[in-house]
Amino acid sequence: MIFSRRAIPLLGVAFFIVFLYTVSNLSRQWRHMPQAVGLGDLVTTPFPTSSVYLNTTGMVDQPSRELYAPRPHYAPGVPKPPGSTYAKTLVVPQAGFEDTEWMRYELPEWQPAVYVVDDLSAPLHPPKNKGHEVIVYLSYIIDHYEKLPDIIAFMHSHQFAWHNDEIFNGNAAEMLQRLNPARVVREGYMNLRCIWAPGCPDWLHPGALQEDEHKQEETMLARSWGEIFPDNPIPQVLAQPCCAQFVVSRERILAIPKARFVYYRDWILRTELSDYISGRIWEYLWHVVFTGENVICPKEHVCYCDGYGICFEGEEGYDEFRRLHSEKGELEEDLKQWRGDAEAIEVERISGTLGEESHISVPDPGRDTELEEQISEKERLIDEMLRNATARGEDPKARALEAGRPWKEGDGF
Ligand SMILES: *[C@@H]1O[C@H](CO)[C@@H](O)[C@H](O)[C@H]1NC(C)=O
Ligand SMILES: *[C@@H]1O[C@H](CO)[C@@H](O)[C@H](O)[C@H]1NC(C)=O
Repeated sequence: MIFSRRAIPLLGVAFFIVFLYTVSNLSRQWRHMPQAVGLGDLVTTPFPTSSVYLNTTGMVDQPSRELYAPRPHYAPGVPKPPGSTYAKTLVVPQAGFEDTEWMRYELPEWQPAVYVVDDLSAPLHPPKNKGHEVIVYLSYIIDHYEKLPDIIAFMHSHQFAWHNDEIFNGNAAEMLQRLNPARVVREGYMNLRCIWAPGCPDWLHPGALQEDEHKQEETMLARSWGEIFPDNPIPQVLAQPCCAQFVVSRERILAIPKARFVYYRDWILRTELSDYISGRIWEYLWHVVFTGENVICPKEHVCYCDGYGICFEGEEGYDEFRRLHSEKGELEEDLKQWRGDAEAIEVERISGTLGEESHISVPDPGRDTELEEQISEKERLIDEMLRNATARGEDPKARALEAGRPWKEGDGF
């Protein structure tokens, strides 16, 4: 066969069509490749995944592509039979000369794991002092993944701190002595703090555009989210009680592949955010890691009853307890005011400037002793309620009832 000159343009057109088809086929394959957020793709909008995940109601829809990794199976755990003991470890970071000795004599049942952040020759230490407690918690999990105890508490090293609930007098030792390991096993993850404020019911709004000076981490979080959880859409709200102190069961940690913890730690090691911000961000991410939920705010009275055996007989009883506390606080304010006024009068009297034109209000004589009596009466009631609640918490049935879980004869806590 001889190519006629007229066939040449025809051949050219056919070739061009085949070329176009190949190109479109190749690009279709590319379109199906998952988009790597944070790996070269700078996230510039607060909702980088919104078109993929959010439908018109703003509800999160099923992702429309394959996940990078299967979602961990967050199943409730089964506690040991009543009377069993649990192997427990307490993980804390230690910097400089912070005292951690209290753990040994206050908490003999807890095995301490003290990570020294600024001494690479210490038996337990993170690879680098970066990201505050976050790198310590993750390093413990990575180092001990194959030999974990039944439950692990992650805390700061101070025994006394405001963020340890007032009900325990701010004492971390008292809190852990009362802690119910069965609840930790059942739930898999438990925030040690029961009081909602700050942190619940809705704390961080990762989509927020305006910086809130009390939550500088909020606007940073949206940018980091895609790097930390490339499979999860950016949540509207992230909430749990503050302060990054929590307990996790071995089963729950093992439900999450070790490689994920290594990945999270790499993020901490490589992020350019300040330690302050990355630490704050992680305060509101632990529950996401360990429960897969964006909001974990258990009712305070359930947390106290099931978690620590302090049962106020339902929400009403608990509200009464809180009311007594705030009334006591108001009386104390009044007393402070009275004493301030009395002192100011005294100063004027001594310096001889107390006269008709004086603007100071003269405090009622005797009002201070009256206030003092009212305060001690409130204190007496508070103590009595607490004693009653603690006695009620000794009964496993009362605890189950308050937490709204089923109970039968012979069940433990
Ligand atoms: C949006 O998502 C929610 C939850 O998945 C679903 O119930 C709702 O029907 C969806 N709405 C639309 C318009 O697709
Ligand atoms: C504590 O319990 C006792 C006995 O049940 C009861 O009489 C008392 O009123 C309770 N106290 C408070 C403050 O609830």
